[in-house]
Amino acid sequence: MPEQPAANSLSTQLLASAQAIQAVLAGRSLSDSLAHTPVAQRAAAQALSFHAMRRLGTARRLRDRLIAHPPPNPLADALLLLGLCLLDTSLGHAPETDTRRDIPVYAAHTLVDQTVEAAAHHPRIRPYKKLINAVLRRFGRERTALLHDLADDPEATWNHPEWWVRTLRNDWPDDWQNILQLANEPGPMTLRVNVRQNTPTELRDRLAASGLQATLTGVDGLTLAAPRPVQDIPGFDQGLWSVQDLAAQQAGRLLPVTSGMRVLDACAAPGGKTAHLLERHNIEITALDSDPQRLARVGQNLDRLRLGGPHIRLIAGDASQPASWWDGRPYDAILADVPCTASGVVRRHPDIRWLRRQGDLRKTAALQARILASLWPLLRPGGHLLYVTCSVFRIEGEQQVDAFLARHPDALRLPAPGHILPRANCAPGTQGDGFFHALIAKRG
Ligand SMILES: C[S@@+](CC[C@H](N)C(=O)[O-])C[C@H]1O[C@@H](n2cnc3c(N)ncnc32)[C@H](O)[C@@H]1O
Repeated sequence: MPEQPAANSLSTQLLASAQAIQAVLAGRSLSDSLAHTPVAQRAAAQALSFHAMRRLGTARRLRDRLIAHPPPNPLADALLLLGLCLLDTSLGHAPETDTRRDIPVYAAHTLVDQTVEAAAHHPRIRPYKKLINAVLRRFGRERTALLHDLADDPEATWNHPEWWVRTLRNDWPDDWQNILQLANEPGPMTLRVNVRQNTPTELRDRLAASGLQATLTGVDGLTLAAPRPVQDIPGFDQGLWSVQDLAAQQAGRLLPVTSGMRVLDACAAPGGKTAHLLERHNIEITALDSDPQRLARVGQNLDRLRLGGPHIRLIAGDASQPASWWDGRPYDAILADVPCTASGVVRRHPDIRWLRRQGDLRKTAALQARILASLWPLLRPGGHLLYVTCSVFRIEGEQQVDAFLARHPDALRLPAPGHILPRANCAPGTQGDGFFHALIAKRG
């Protein structure tokens, strides 16, 4: 009977991470998968899994060169891929240039031993111990030649599916490499300050008093010097702030809203932008979402931020079927933060690229077009609609809006940032996720 590993040894963390990776390869999101990880291992398993998602393209190609067939057991395969990701990082690590490390750099022999140990402690994958050991050791010996052979392989080079790389290359001939490179780095942690409760400067000083450094960013934002679990940052339970990327904070300011207006947030959950609008304006707002469970989170978030009240209606409904929920009174402003591929936020959700399929692009764009067309009649003449996606694909941004404008002669596009691409070499705290914003006015 093998000895049980310590609850939080590296081998236990590797096994927990491999279980999460296995779930992603079977089509489940990483956050859902990690929710089942024991609390003692969750933070470490998350860091290891995020790292693996950012290296998975290389690891899969390496595995395919090192063995004729993947291990038939999916957990053993996930553990082998994780071992390859980590070993590659350790062996290729250049300490003097690596400023964005998302995991500790382990010694190569420790990694091999602990990965084999992880297999030894799980009855279903124990039979793959020798295979994992042999493959990792061979990779250690032949790494340079193996990587050289993969130099022209887009999936191995960029760690995104080949179709994703091709789409970005077509959409952004000058920027695609930059977008892909940044997508493989961890993003900064930015807070949106609840200006009903404190100013950005007040919150910055309060955090500094607790030893947390943060920089004022955008209008309502603070970027932390280093990401922290939310519960370790003062003021979360009191509703002083929310986590929201800088690019996502633009929507709350771009939609022209003044006190007393009647506003629709048509795809509202979990309520980040609903809350931002309510923090800044005394408005009557309908927060709609087709997913009742996610809609419940809008209510919880507004309660935490002390923003609840009779001026807010939460409705579970389909934005493309207004007849089932609309009361017939036009809105002064509509925020359409539509479902999308989320290709702009892959650095925060590194599993997304492996979960999406090429066919999702057209399906998602078609749903966006239906939602836009269905919301348009709900806007009063002279009102404004802000169309938002967290995607860098043009089909969900510029192309979508161009098609909408061509079909709606009463729609007038106003200045707004359009596609926001992640940028390298920005001043600290000014680099946002990939987003798209289009502001459209209805002719009066
Ligand atoms: C990008 S998220 C919205 C994020 C949100 N605005 C925020 O800032 O927190 C898109 C949302 O659209 C919802 N959704 C998807 N299809 C929908 C539809 N047909 N009608 C309304 N909501 C929909 C999803 O459940 C999801 O919560």
